[in-house]
Amino acid sequence: MNNRDVRVQNQRSWDAVVPAHVSHHHDVPGFLRNGGSSLFPEELTLLGEIRGVQLVHLMCNAGLDTLSLANQGARVTGVDISQNAVAQARTWAVESGITATFVQSDVYDWLATTDQQFDRVYCSYGAICWLNDLTGWAHGVARVIAPHGRFVLVEFHPTSNMFDRDWHLVRDYPQSGRQLTLHGIDDYVADSGGGLTPSGYSEGISGFVNTEPCHLFQWSVGEVVTALAQAGLVIERLEEYCFSNGERPFNDMVEHAGRRMVAPAHVAKFPLLYGVAATKKG
Ligand SMILES: C[S@@+](CC[C@H](N)C(=O)[O-])C[C@H]1O[C@@H](n2cnc3c(N)ncnc32)[C@H](O)[C@@H]1O
Repeated sequence: MNNRDVRVQNQRSWDAVVPAHVSHHHDVPGFLRNGGSSLFPEELTLLGEIRGVQLVHLMCNAGLDTLSLANQGARVTGVDISQNAVAQARTWAVESGITATFVQSDVYDWLATTDQQFDRVYCSYGAICWLNDLTGWAHGVARVIAPHGRFVLVEFHPTSNMFDRDWHLVRDYPQSGRQLTLHGIDDYVADSGGGLTPSGYSEGISGFVNTEPCHLFQWSVGEVVTALAQAGLVIERLEEYCFSNGERPFNDMVEHAGRRMVAPAHVAKFPLLYGVAATKKG
């Protein structure tokens, strides 16, 4: 299977799972209309002031974070390969009365062809693992950032992939874009027990089984940061966080305020998320 076929298959897997994910969110339009936000302090700190800025959210899924960024005053565009995710994002935008543009596209095609540039390019929580070509992606990101603009990434730390759900060290550190094929994207929104549904959890679709396999690519933190630097961006911040936001990748995680998930007391702390801020010089 070539890389485009892999990405098309990944689109099928996302299109299959999106209705299950969406079914667990309670009244997103009402939540957004009341000024609600799904964003965490980590991305808001790295993004800095966004009022009035042109912001693109790459691989935005159903747009909840994108619309939350618009609620904070950014002029937003969201890009995602999944037709079902983009259709849902457009519906939530209309129903919440928030102005936003959503584009259904493979991120590689969009980065290569758009004639727009943005003050902020944002990407988060489960995006890097879908990229087969880190160098091409980083050059595309650099291309769409306006002079003095900023790229921000908040992502699951590859170290967390080395452990099974019971915190046992079972896998090598992710590196070199090693490909991993899974049976299909799960209903991790249901598994997160409300951590990913800030507007409230609905029972929704239960027992979802994804019959569309998906293909992921395993990259280290060093490879991601090096790709951005080699694309000409200046790395301003590289943060590592020993907690997860929203999602519960392991058993017995302790939920703190703000949907922050932390390892239980008997488990040594290691980074579960990392964040990058990089700028483009004028
Ligand atoms: C885990 S979700 C990202 C969640 C996101 N941070 C949010 O705000 O909800 C990953 C997303 O990447 C998208 N995706 C995967 N491969 C892609 C590609 N080649 N081009 C564009 N989007 C892609 C999927 O459709 C999915 O919506």
